[in-house]
Amino acid sequence: MIRYDRKLKIFALNGKSYTYMFRITDKGVLQHLYFGKRLGVFDARSATDLGFEWSHTYLDCDSAERNYSDNYYNDKSLAEVASHGLMDKSGAAFVIEKNGATATEFIYKSHRIYDGKPKLKTMPCAHADEAQTLELTLDDRFGGARLILSYTVIKNSDVLLRNSLVQNVGATDIVLKRAYSTELDLPQSGDDFIHFYGDWCLERFLERAPLINGRVEISSNFGRSSHEHNPFGILCDRHTTERAGEAFAFSLVYSGNFTLSAYVDKWRRTRVLMGINDEDFDYLLPPRAEFEAPEGVTVYSDGGLDGISHAMHDFVRDNIITYKNAKAARPVLFNSWEGCYLDFDTQSILEYIDSAKKTGAELFVLDDGWFGKRDTDQASLGDWYVNARKIDLRRIIDKCHALGMKFGIWFEPEMINPDSDLYRRHADFALGDRDKERTLSRHQLVIDTSRDDVIDVLFDMMSGILDEYEIDYVKWDHNRNIGEIAGATAYGETYHKIILGTYKLLDRLQGKYPDILFEGCASGGGRFDLGMLYYCPQIWTSDETDPVQRLFIQYGTSYGYPPSCMGAHISKNKIMSYTDKGRIALFGTYGIEMNPCTLDDGQIAEVLEINRIYKEYHNDVIANGDFYRLCSPFEGNYAAMMSVSKDKSKAVVLFANLLKENNRYRFIKLAGLDERKRYKNTLDGRVYDGAYYMQVGINLSVWLDEFTTYLIILEEC
Ligand code: GLA
Repeated sequence: MIRYDRKLKIFALNGKSYTYMFRITDKGVLQHLYFGKRLGVFDARSATDLGFEWSHTYLDCDSAERNYSDNYYNDKSLAEVASHGLMDKSGAAFVIEKNGATATEFIYKSHRIYDGKPKLKTMPCAHADEAQTLELTLDDRFGGARLILSYTVIKNSDVLLRNSLVQNVGATDIVLKRAYSTELDLPQSGDDFIHFYGDWCLERFLERAPLINGRVEISSNFGRSSHEHNPFGILCDRHTTERAGEAFAFSLVYSGNFTLSAYVDKWRRTRVLMGINDEDFDYLLPPRAEFEAPEGVTVYSDGGLDGISHAMHDFVRDNIITYKNAKAARPVLFNSWEGCYLDFDTQSILEYIDSAKKTGAELFVLDDGWFGKRDTDQASLGDWYVNARKIDLRRIIDKCHALGMKFGIWFEPEMINPDSDLYRRHADFALGDRDKERTLSRHQLVIDTSRDDVIDVLFDMMSGILDEYEIDYVKWDHNRNIGEIAGATAYGETYHKIILGTYKLLDRLQGKYPDILFEGCASGGGRFDLGMLYYCPQIWTSDETDPVQRLFIQYGTSYGYPPSCMGAHISKNKIMSYTDKGRIALFGTYGIEMNPCTLDDGQIAEVLEINRIYKEYHNDVIANGDFYRLCSPFEGNYAAMMSVSKDKSKAVVLFANLLKENNRYRFIKLAGLDERKRYKNTLDGRVYDGAYYMQVGINLSVWLDEFTTYLIILEEC
């Protein structure tokens, strides 16, 4: 997978369908050569075929210019690790202050290639059974800093991982002003940038826009990956579609502040940078100290946006998620939140459990409100012990078990209400300056999880509950953005160190309770990222459970994340029937969230039919199969998507329209089937070849009222 040509000093990294190449120049600088469709068997000749003097990567200047030996034109070259403070002004991944100066240029010292994929020491990262890693050691020629730069190629994957460890090898302090994870120079532009923006109840809406001459950037400085921008983006050719064309995607195994930018410079070279947002980032490294950047994830596709999504979906399922039962069918989840919010008691929850059982629920989740004195959202975050005056938790759990259901519970460990026993005991746990008026959000402050003693207290309180009660599932929430970060740690390190603290807490809890299914949440989908997915195989996609909005949210989310990660519930919300809502919720980790006692027999029958489909087709086809987007709600009046089992024997297709439309020709062309296999479909009961479904399509030339759905199942026969 990874080759080194000693003569030409070229590294070639070969993934499933990409080749990534760079070389060591005579000056010892790493120069990027190529990232694109796999070049075939690597040999020295194929490298030189890229053009002598790397004209592919080095602008063809006239010979006089080319002969400058004083680096005058070295800003034209494609960089692998751009210098900072020298001639290249297109943005560097590292900005390092040493004795007041920031000029930095990393020079090759040595490298090694080995099998496997190392773990990061401080953060979650990908794991892979079969992988190869190239580790390079580079020293800053201005002294002080060493960079250990590694790339991992995963067998049979189009994901390339990049890791950076900066070490202070000098005798005086250095300060990291920036330490990004991914840096990639592409030799041409004219491309589009696709990213996923949003808000609470509006997560991951798709936007595709041309790059500009200059910088296009998305970022979060909210202290979490955020609703506003997701740490995932795609660069693609103007003509790239879902099924065809070249595309590059970028992601980060990280849950805190991030930035992703693409800068088109005067040479029309496009430099992509991704990493921890450098606003409010300032990291002191005394001699011998080191800093580990989050793992950068780059994906290549020459098969359109589908190729990106398939690579990301497999990567998330196979290489990110660590939950041991992630590939098994997830239980049908019932959640109490939208049914009763904080207003419940033992009796009402027991009634909920009885009724939830009738909907086919297999896991009953008691959301916010069971702890401390939590009757409103103004108090008790931090008091993780049962509110015995409000509920009898033992009785509730026993009831679930008696009915054959599992039990789950809600926590929001990183938060504290000023009106809580924890705050009264440990006011210093909260971030912010206590002598000033602090900004509350949802009446809460953020806990300084950069402190190990704080993590110990939280761990003990949570273990107290998890040890005493049989709990199969934890919903891990995070309901405010972070600001006013004065705490125990230096200001420029706090945002990063509180995320590391959260990871520590998750690590300890996951280590102690490996059977518990953790679901992530942050006011809906405000922390939907690879860092959280490492611990939580599913994340509550959005607090918006209106199924129409959900079509957009789930469609947008699908670009970077598989449906198996997206918590999706049928709720009371909005105008569709339970059948229609259920069909949309099936394209996620399916559950129910409402007052179940209000459902009539007809509605229960609708929900049970959705359950049946879930049981029969979800795990093989939707959760662990290949997902295809067919019609984009962002572009027209329909949303259509489908999943095909890996063996291509079964598929589930969802079609939904938005506005009413009368009869007209409407054929929905499917994707991902085996052309030669014969499939029977549940729409007209007929059997057609895979090729027919993909070339002619499913005939939906019918009258459509507003917001109608079709769920069509195909089975090989
Ligand atoms: C957040 C979550 C909801 C629910 C509430 C409880 O908003 O997104 O699902 O858990 O918190 O307070």
